[in-house]
Amino acid sequence: MPDMRIKTLILGAGAAGMMCAAHAGGDCLVVDHAKSPGEKIRISGGGRCNFTNMYAAPENYLSGNPHFCKSALARYTQWDFIALVDRHGIAWHEKTLGQLFCDGSAKQIVSMLVTELHAAGADLWLQTSVGAVRHGGDGFTVQLEREGKPVTVTAQNLVLATGGKSIPKMGATGLAYDIAQQFGLPVTETRPGLVPFTFGADRFKPLAGVALPARLSNDRASFDEALLFTHRGLSGPAVLQLSSYWQDGAEICVHLLPEVDLFTALRDQRQQSGRKDLTTELARHLPARLVDDLAADGSLKGRLADQSDAALQALCDRLHNWRLKPTGTEGYRTAEVTLGGIDTDALSSRTMAAKARPGLYVIGEAADVTGWLGGYNFQWAWASGVAAGTAI
Ligand code: FDA
Repeated sequence: MPDMRIKTLILGAGAAGMMCAAHAGGDCLVVDHAKSPGEKIRISGGGRCNFTNMYAAPENYLSGNPHFCKSALARYTQWDFIALVDRHGIAWHEKTLGQLFCDGSAKQIVSMLVTELHAAGADLWLQTSVGAVRHGGDGFTVQLEREGKPVTVTAQNLVLATGGKSIPKMGATGLAYDIAQQFGLPVTETRPGLVPFTFGADRFKPLAGVALPARLSNDRASFDEALLFTHRGLSGPAVLQLSSYWQDGAEICVHLLPEVDLFTALRDQRQQSGRKDLTTELARHLPARLVDDLAADGSLKGRLADQSDAALQALCDRLHNWRLKPTGTEGYRTAEVTLGGIDTDALSSRTMAAKARPGLYVIGEAADVTGWLGGYNFQWAWASGVAAGTAI
């Protein structure tokens, strides 16, 4: 005999799960194995949560079906979420590129969601582990363990909101994928996204900490943002963005100083201060440690006056088309998101319900929808959570 019968059981009290509960009405229970809800929200955006992006649009998402996210994003927009944040009196600001952050703390967003879900009549159980899941005439029967005690819950609707595999140390698991597969939903290949690149043999160790604006590109995408050298390789927003479009073994192209007409600048300086060393002049445009690294092979010798137009052009081409082959990425240990996931072909884009299994819903990062860096992933969590919540 089941211990409890409810209308809706949501697995995962993260961004999507709590938002869904706030819209699903009463008779809804959200469970999570963590001690606190919304842990990724709490640590996001350096503790200030980049909660949405003013320019969020379907083009900012990767998915096996790029059209899938359109309906949910159009029906719950960034402006809807901003209105919610405003209703809760949470002060916010735009940092850059439409990225909105709390003025105070990301904890305000977590509190807001907990308040909203309780106001909607939902319950929240933390430190609750999820065991076997079955489906029968009554709906979904899930074995839970709360504070060491087994509880059997039978629910008409089961919402998978346990996110992706990124940062297992924070409690990320592949539970949503396992349950989806158990009920016949296909799961596309998953891999870490928004993740730093690694390079072998301490390639960039001497440059660790150097940051500068750059354009990172490959044959699929191009991003103009900051580039950061680390002890292990390359990071910074431009790198994280490109990592979502990168495949093992592929090259990337680094275009240093994309905003500067370097050739004209060097040629003008050659005319005005020809006695200056080439490396001294370059260090006016690039961090000195990077110039030292580029000069280590002996290619940047002599004064400006010694450089022909062709030599200056070749130097600019080198800086604008620096080809690098990462050995890999830092993996799920530091990745902000998981690419791939539960195949959107098996889901309704309007309600997030599994087409072949009435009552089963998939929201947030567990689905094969991944946003760019900059508040896009939370916007997907809010929008898909609302889509399922209002349909339930
Ligand atoms: P989320 O991961 O939020 O929630 C899943 C919940 O399920 C968790 O509470 C987890 O404990 C629980 N769970 C997992 N397995 C379980 C199991 N087996 N049993 C019970 N419970 C289980 N995005 C953005 O838009 N702006 C930003 O600023 C950032 N910053 C950021 C920083 C860092 C360090 C990371 C790792 C990620 C980001 N992101 C981000 C991405 C964003 O955090 C992510 O896309 C959303 O949190 C996804 O929301 P979900 O609700 O789908 O999963």
